[in-house]
Amino acid sequence: MTTDDELTIESRLAEQEYFEPPTEFVGQANMTDPGVYDRFDEFPEGFEEYAAMLDWDEHWDEVLDDSNPPFYEWFVGGKLNASHNCIDRHLDERKNQTALLWEGEDGEQRNVSYQDLYREVNEMAAALRSAGVGEDDIVTIHLPMVPALPITMLACARIGAPHSVVFAGFSASALAERVDDADSDHVVTIDGYYRRGDFLEHIEKADEAMAEVDVDPDVLAWTRHDEPQVEVSDDYTLVSELLADHRGERVAPVSRDAEDPLFLMYTSGTTGQPKGCQHRTGGYLAYATGTAKYDEDIKPSDTYWCSADIGWITGHSYIVYGPLSLGTTSVMYEGTPDYPHRGRTWEIAEKYDVDIFHTSPTAVRQFMKWGEEELEGYDFDFRHMTTVGEPIQPEAWLWYYKHVGDESAVIVDTWWQTENGGHMITNLPAIQDMKPGSAGHPAPGIEPAILDDAGEEIAPESGEAGNLAITRPWPGMLQTVHGDDERFIDEYWERFSDTDSDDSVDWIYEAGDAAVQGTDGYYRILGRLDDVMNVAGHRLGTMELESAIAEVEDVAEAAVAARDDAEKGEVPDVYVTVREGVEETEELRERIVESVEEGIGKFARPSNVLFVDELPKTRSGKIMRRLLEDISNDEELGNTSTLADPSVPETIRDQLQAD
Ligand code: WT7
Repeated sequence: MTTDDELTIESRLAEQEYFEPPTEFVGQANMTDPGVYDRFDEFPEGFEEYAAMLDWDEHWDEVLDDSNPPFYEWFVGGKLNASHNCIDRHLDERKNQTALLWEGEDGEQRNVSYQDLYREVNEMAAALRSAGVGEDDIVTIHLPMVPALPITMLACARIGAPHSVVFAGFSASALAERVDDADSDHVVTIDGYYRRGDFLEHIEKADEAMAEVDVDPDVLAWTRHDEPQVEVSDDYTLVSELLADHRGERVAPVSRDAEDPLFLMYTSGTTGQPKGCQHRTGGYLAYATGTAKYDEDIKPSDTYWCSADIGWITGHSYIVYGPLSLGTTSVMYEGTPDYPHRGRTWEIAEKYDVDIFHTSPTAVRQFMKWGEEELEGYDFDFRHMTTVGEPIQPEAWLWYYKHVGDESAVIVDTWWQTENGGHMITNLPAIQDMKPGSAGHPAPGIEPAILDDAGEEIAPESGEAGNLAITRPWPGMLQTVHGDDERFIDEYWERFSDTDSDDSVDWIYEAGDAAVQGTDGYYRILGRLDDVMNVAGHRLGTMELESAIAEVEDVAEAAVAARDDAEKGEVPDVYVTVREGVEETEELRERIVESVEEGIGKFARPSNVLFVDELPKTRSGKIMRRLLEDISNDEELGNTSTLADPSVPETIRDQLQAD
């Protein structure tokens, strides 16, 4: 192809606003009937269509009990087991089909068939029981992307023990905090894993965390290879030894009430404390399964690869529960996309003949930066591609569409949150045209609204930005914040609901995002409105960062501002005042960065640490992060009239320029 042809394609793509799904895609898609929206608008019965995709031990009596909002109950009276739905029910038809295709960073490979998964999950379930895990005991799982992670999750689900998976990148302190909050008596970890060629001694984090926790959990340690590669404390139990006592054992799946919790997933909010979003068994599994089927177009015959980490909600819903419940083959990769080379992603796509590929805008921007040359020579053919976690800029979308999808794959941009359980705003790829930069239409049965700051609804399709809210419950929604119903109400419902009312229509879920609905009905998500930032698709609370920094001795005060970043979307800038007499040194900067790494994890590292004389504060002493954000992004300063000293932001600007 000549450069001229290239240019024509580029400009044609850049001018085009909508992209039709290819006919071949539509011809084979799981959901092609626009009537699906009307069916789901039969509220709440429409959602039975998702629940019907599962095997139930007992059918539900009532689809939705909304008598005590916002504590909604879904598929009340129904009973089921999630591990049965993800494993056992597939055995008759496809026990020899691969369930998990795991690729280690070191090139090791494991094909776990549904039969293997059945055996391993049963043995692990027996092992967990023998270690004293009972029904409703919360098990904290701190594992990287190895088969042990989904196996442990499904083993917990089998015996009715809710899991709380903590992303492996979280530090010892972050782990300890979550173990304490969940009051876990059991923590599952591993000796180590591979990251860019090194064997990371992951177990050290558990060692440190156990010294910090208030509770006194038992620790179970998997090993990455047959034998431990690093020293494992005598206090811990090796999973391999435990499993040896339970070879061939079978554990009957515990029949769980639809409303029994399946798992907790901690996420950042606007305070220093992460919140444990508690997800129910029936509604969650139905929602993850149904959305995986309709939005991701997953079929049992597919090879599906979501490159997220199972340690975040995306991996829970769209690596483990949704895909396995649908009986597909799901790829899992231990390492990073740039190791040992930048074509690693495409190498895996070719090797396993991946049909559906799911990633983040941050990854797309990174691939784009590395250049399309990195894809050359790899032979793969995606039918469907997903993005999630942050807005995708049309430029990145077009690159993904052209160079990864070869203009023959559909892209769905899926907006949702840890709290939501599954996609909330996303196109049904065979029904709507794609529009770069827009998440698109509400998922079937989901009723969003855009509200002004007073809570009044902005007219639909007005093109005016406002607060994104959801005005009707849905089965994937969190049940509560673990152990803190008050906080559940405060964080999500207080602002826009009539909280005195027990009529469900008066309750409105606040998403915390700004959004706009265009005149064409497409929703575009603009980003967080609260003190939560989005770093490479991961949610980080500014307060959490600030409390980690406050631990540093010489720091007087700290404020974190989100700076726009071409690759990661946003990165944290830290503004710090030091204590009287303390010198602003490089060494102090390092201690601040270390404190964030220790308090949260390396992935939360501040991008800049900026020393200033004073922070901008209101007369009541509240730090105005918004103004710091204007400074970080080199934008015009917003309203400074409420500042105790309106000259502070300019002084900071001058000071930074002088540095
Ligand atoms: C926040 C939720 C559950 C997905 C992984 C992140 C942002 C998520 C999109 C999207 C624009 C998005 C929002 C949301 N977000 N998806 N498609 N377009 N923004 O889950 O950590 O709970 O974060 O991620 O700001 O509130 P999370």
